Parts: sequence; C-alpha cells; structure tokens
Amino acid sequence: MYHFSNIYKKNKKYRFNANQLSINNKDLDKFNSCFNILKAKFQKKKEISNFKIKSSFDQCNSIHKKIFNDLVEQTSDKTLIKFLKSIEFFSYKNLEETLNFFLKSKQFKALNNKNYNLLKKNFYYKGYISKKNLELLLNISNKYLPELLRKAKAGKTRRSDLTISDLSFNKKISKILNLEFKKNGVLNNLKSFFGYEMIVAGAALELSIPSSVWWKKNSSSNMAKNLTSYIHTDESLTVPKSIIYLSDVKLSNGPLTFYPNVLKKIGIENNPFAKLVGGTIHNVVLINKKLYKHKDQQPMTSRNFRNHFMCLPEDIRLSNHFGWDIKRNSKIEKLIDSKKDIMLGKKGRFAIFDGYSVLHRGGIINDNYRLVLQVTLRKKLSKLNFLYNLVKKNFYKK
Ligand SMILES: [Fe+2]
Repeated sequence: MYHFSNIYKKNKKYRFNANQLSINNKDLDKFNSCFNILKAKFQKKKEISNFKIKSSFDQCNSIHKKIFNDLVEQTSDKTLIKFLKSIEFFSYKNLEETLNFFLKSKQFKALNNKNYNLLKKNFYYKGYISKKNLELLLNISNKYLPELLRKAKAGKTRRSDLTISDLSFNKKISKILNLEFKKNGVLNNLKSFFGYEMIVAGAALELSIPSSVWWKKNSSSNMAKNLTSYIHTDESLTVPKSIIYLSDVKLSNGPLTFYPNVLKKIGIENNPFAKLVGGTIHNVVLINKKLYKHKDQQPMTSRNFRNHFMCLPEDIRLSNHFGWDIKRNSKIEKLIDSKKDIMLGKKGRFAIFDGYSVLHRGGIINDNYRLVLQVTLRKKLSKLNFLYNLVKKNFYKK
C-alpha cells in the first residue's frame, strides 16, 4: 500500500495504453543483493572476503547490462529504445562512480558522539554555526542581499536568478566553513561515515521568495496542493550537503525538512536499481529535449516522457523527485507527511546530510524570504590525484 510503485498506478495523468515492459525479478533481486553487499562493506556493517567483493562488483555490472538489454529487446519503438538507452547510460555512470566510492573507502575509527550516531541512523543531523564564523559568513553574504532582493522585485524568480555562486564568493565561504566544520566535528564525522577525508567543495547563496514557485507541482498533474511537492533524494551518494540559514527560518519561510526512514518504508532503500533509474530522469529529459518538451524543469510535464516512463516495469519505475507526483490525500502522502522533521531556527542553524539516503525538501516560501548557504562537500583529493585530475582536464580540453 505504501510501496513506491503505487504512486503512479491509479493516476489518470499517468494512464497510457502502451505496453508495460517486464523485468526478470531474479535479475533485479540479484543486482540489488550484490549492490547491498558492497554497500554493507562501505557502511562497515560486515566483513566481506575479497573474492565476494570482486564477484559482487562484477555481477552488478553484468546484471545492469542484462536488465537493459532485456528491456530493449521487448520493443521495436525507436523512441522508447532511445529512452531506455539514455536511462542505461546515466544509470551506469552513477553505478560505476558509486561502486568505486564504496570499494575505495577506508575504515577509520568508529566514533561515539551524538551527531555521528544520528548521521549513521538518519543520514542527517543539525547544529549551530559558531557566533564568530556566523558573523564572517553574514558579512560576506549580506553584501549580495540588496542585489538579490532587487532582482526578486523585478520579477526574476527563477532559481538561478536568485543564486550567487561566483568563484570568489565560493572561495571565501569555503575557507570559513572548512575551519568551522573542522572545529565542530562535522569533517571528522563525515570522514568516519564515508571513509574518506572530506572538505567543503563549494557554497552558493540562495534567496527564496514567495513568488518563486519553481517547486510547485507541474500543472499537467493537477496536484498543486499536495503535501509532498519537491520532496526528493539527491542523485549522488558521494556528495554530502549542508544548508546553513542566514536568515531566521519559521514554518512560513521555507524550512528544510527531512523525512527520516521513509525510503525504507516505501521500498526504495533496498531497491538500489530503482534508485539508479530514478536518478537519471532529469538528465534523460535534458538530452532528449526535442522529444520531451517540458515546463519548469519538470520532466513529468512532458506527455511523451510520461508515456515512456509508464512503460518501465513498476518495480523500477521511479523518479528521485517523486514528491511532485504523489496524489493529494493518498495513503503514501499521509505516511510521508507524518514523518516530517522540520528544521526551524535562527540564523546560523545548519544541517549536514547525505541527500542520497534521506528524503528531504526546502525553500517552499509562503511569506517573507529565506536566505541560505547551499554547501557541498566532497572527498579530499591527495596532491597526486589533484594533479592527475588537472592534467586530465587540460588534456581533454585540447
Ligand atoms: Fe536535495
């Protein structure tokens, strides 16, 4: 009843006559169990032999290929084949990156502090930035506020219009945050959690205002008022995030909200294959723009896209932004809403989270405005790796 496959089943907007493709459940189960074996090693839940690691890794790759080959073989519709091939391409890219991340992660000493335990259990925790560093962050960020408010007043309401992410801003903010996160234990907690030394990779300043309604439900689905709009998971498992409030945030001005343990309850956590598919949707639409004409960056506004999406077997039919597609008053909507953990707070309140593993949303404004720093972290590269990446980048440029 609460399974994610029910999201699209009884919805008129998603009803098409097209044949639904089928998936071999044994393949899906095998892929998911191999992936979960490697994930368990990564999460330090289990000791696994090198042989088992190697065979799970190989099987993940070969079953991934087989599943998509089998799907393609069931149709002669060229556009549908293109859709499936696009999903396979992005899904495989993510799979490769994720498995490598799992395999190369190190075992650092286990921590036993409250925040680390929360991160392990719920994939997020909250805190406050120190007074001194908050002052520094505000000094830099507030200089941009008049410009952002001016743009907002002039009707520029796209998300990109109301975001500052230039290089010098990034550099200054990242420097402060690396010091702050070192001192307050965030970097240490992430290091033990991910098995990599982590650093702040970048920060963007974002203003959210009531007339900026990009997060609202796509008009074609007629669910503008559902309680789950914009609820999503992030595509990559390798990039933890932080959101820091630079204005006081109440219920009415876009609090960041987490929905702990919901992914488990609706069958997503243990279905990494579906999660890989869900993470490709946005890119699939972007590289096939002519075929999938959509509005407001929302793939499901395209009828062609919905049609193809509904051809997917229901066990893997998932969008990682599924919050937009949930029916008002449905059981699954009620379940998700009942689990919400809303982060209210004064300037300086922050959350650290693994956005791949916990359902979340933010920035839905009814009143006033919200100013936040959107921060991404990543694994720290060794000097050698850093130089290698630089050379590789320049080589490809030529
Ligand atoms: Fe997110």
